Amino acid sequence: MSMVYLDGAYLPMEEAKISPMDRGFLFGDGIYEVIPSYGGRMVGFSPHINRMKDGLAAIDIQLDWDEDNWRGVCDELIAKNGAGDLGLYLHVSRGADTRRDHAYPEGIKPTVFAFTFDIPPSPVADKSTTKTYTVTTTQDMRWKRCNIKSTALLGNVMHFNQGYEGGSNETILYNDKHELTEASACNVYVVKDGVVATPETDHQILPGITRLLLIQILRADGSIPIEERNVTLEELQAADEVWISSSTKEIAPVVLVDGQPVGDGGVGDVWEQAQALFSEFKYDY
Ligand code: PDD
Repeated sequence: MSMVYLDGAYLPMEEAKISPMDRGFLFGDGIYEVIPSYGGRMVGFSPHINRMKDGLAAIDIQLDWDEDNWRGVCDELIAKNGAGDLGLYLHVSRGADTRRDHAYPEGIKPTVFAFTFDIPPSPVADKSTTKTYTVTTTQDMRWKRCNIKSTALLGNVMHFNQGYEGGSNETILYNDKHELTEASACNVYVVKDGVVATPETDHQILPGITRLLLIQILRADGSIPIEERNVTLEELQAADEVWISSSTKEIAPVVLVDGQPVGDGGVGDVWEQAQALFSEFKYDY
């Protein structure tokens, strides 16, 4: 049975209860994180916690927790849930109020909730066996604060479902200038002539931790150039390789965009090299 953390207690998932007046439930008024952990080793723990702190500060939720508090909860949940290949979901909402009021209430206590879920084993950099992805593209209709990892994910959920209903694994989004932003739950990359390009971080995208690590790892190695810049929909359609990244997928190769094969329709060599470097160095950050 899955064990979760809720406001200071570890308990079976079935026993975890929150108030229906919790602002996370009523307004999506909260911040979350997803951290991958393979066999008890977390990837990017500090950058994940830093992003969460930035999100909490951005929406003015005061939670008096430091990295050690979070590490304690994560380590405990990993141990209680078998220390396999797990995603750690961490969630802080503004808390439960006695009434529904748009204004941030004074003096309520944030709700802190965390649970684990199974994720695929640490990806192996092998073109012939890796899982491949198909994507749909559509115009990004979400809000203008996508850099905040808010629990209010309806825009992302609706976009994800657009691709999913058409048989795709993800939906890649572009703005009204036909520049890529990200995917509904991933960052996005195109590869052309051996050079990787990914949209810059601004209000239109989540600053992904997998993205951050990948850029640092590739730059430290130096053999694969990576650029942060505007990337157009046309570049996506003409790319040799397309990748999406997230904490639960690492660097995932896309082989079909809107039904059209990417490059030669197979997984690319640059992906294999990049995933190998990511696998080698991902625990260093
Ligand atoms: N999704 N962009 C969006 C909109 C995301 O939701 C995510 C992650 C990413 C990648 O970020 P990271 O590399 O830090 O996981 C980019 C998580 C995994 C989720 O919502 O389940």
